[in-house]
Amino acid sequence: MTDCQRLLIDRLRTLPGGVLPFAQVMDFALYDAATGYYGRAPRRIGRSGDFYTAVSVGPLYGRLLAVSVRQCWEKMGCPQDFLIIEQAAHDGQLAEDILTAITAPGDAFSAAARYHIIEPQPAYEAAQHARLFPQWPDRVTWSATSATVTGPAFFLCNELVDALPAHLLRWSQGQWWERGVAVDAADTLRWQDLPISDPELAAEAAKLPQDLPEGFVTEINLAALQWLRGIAAATFTGTVLIADYGLDAEEFWTASRAEGTIRRYANHQMDGDVLTDLGDCDLTAQVNFSRLIEEAEAAGLTVRAYQDQSRFLTHLAADWLRSLDGRPPDADTRAALRQFQTLTHPSLMGRSFRVLMLEKTA
Ligand SMILES: C[S@@+](CC[C@H](N)C(=O)[O-])C[C@H]1O[C@@H](n2cnc3c(N)ncnc32)[C@H](O)[C@@H]1O
Repeated sequence: MTDCQRLLIDRLRTLPGGVLPFAQVMDFALYDAATGYYGRAPRRIGRSGDFYTAVSVGPLYGRLLAVSVRQCWEKMGCPQDFLIIEQAAHDGQLAEDILTAITAPGDAFSAAARYHIIEPQPAYEAAQHARLFPQWPDRVTWSATSATVTGPAFFLCNELVDALPAHLLRWSQGQWWERGVAVDAADTLRWQDLPISDPELAAEAAKLPQDLPEGFVTEINLAALQWLRGIAAATFTGTVLIADYGLDAEEFWTASRAEGTIRRYANHQMDGDVLTDLGDCDLTAQVNFSRLIEEAEAAGLTVRAYQDQSRFLTHLAADWLRSLDGRPPDADTRAALRQFQTLTHPSLMGRSFRVLMLEKTA
């Protein structure tokens, strides 16, 4: 049994009802500072980790995002001070890739751009600092929340939203129930349906379809909606880019997703056994982009683009790809083209990953 699971079971036994909503279990399993999957220190992502992200494919992703950042800066009238804000910066890899791509002596954009990381976990900030400070001692700053960040900016996050703790709901006997987690006498975690008591969760559940087969499970991510409202309320202006894997609302209601989209990842294996090996596996659910868009618009943000990763990156890569015409590729170019293929091919990351770009004017 993992340390995280042991602690959770001890906690469940001290609770009057002996049960916790799954969202709290997911939060504990990912972010408990002593035993959580992300709570301890940045895990390896990529070949030697549990899963790949676009960042871990290689530096091309950051190089292409840097093109988008520069376009935003130009659209805002080339301000002399411009912030690139990243949340979920993990070990600082994407920050390093973007800063490398934009650092050019004599370039006005390079001179204007500073990098700001929103990082609530001190161990992560330390890892990012160790990676970035030696090369860019004056360029990178940190804060624990987005509330104090101000000025013209490009905000970005890659695979943040899918890692926020989601509530699980189950359709049974003509109504939605919240999935809770309890423990039996043999120390096994088991599901227990709970009446929905949180008014915000009840309001979200009321918007879901009801013509579903008995036992259909889905997720509602209140933390994602709350996070987005926080971004909308922050005082920076410019672009907000959310890159993640996810679906449109209607894509959740298929037979293949009847057990929900919540999954655990370890050693590049994925399954739905999300109450096993807590703290040693990543837990993640598909982002509901339709719901995010609705919340963004309600919070005063404007949708500028919503595309799959393939279209988004192909557009940004156009100049680079044109510049290769007729030239035999060197080793670096061949490596970058392989990364481009992984990031954009529909059967790899091109279709399942999506990019939402929002404009924030206040
Ligand atoms: C799936 S990983 C993605 C890491 C990296 N962005 C990438 O694409 O390789 C999810 C990351 O979200 C971070 N995270 C979760 N909640 C956060 C929050 N409120 N603020 C900043 N980072 C957060 C975790 O620490 C973890 O590094």
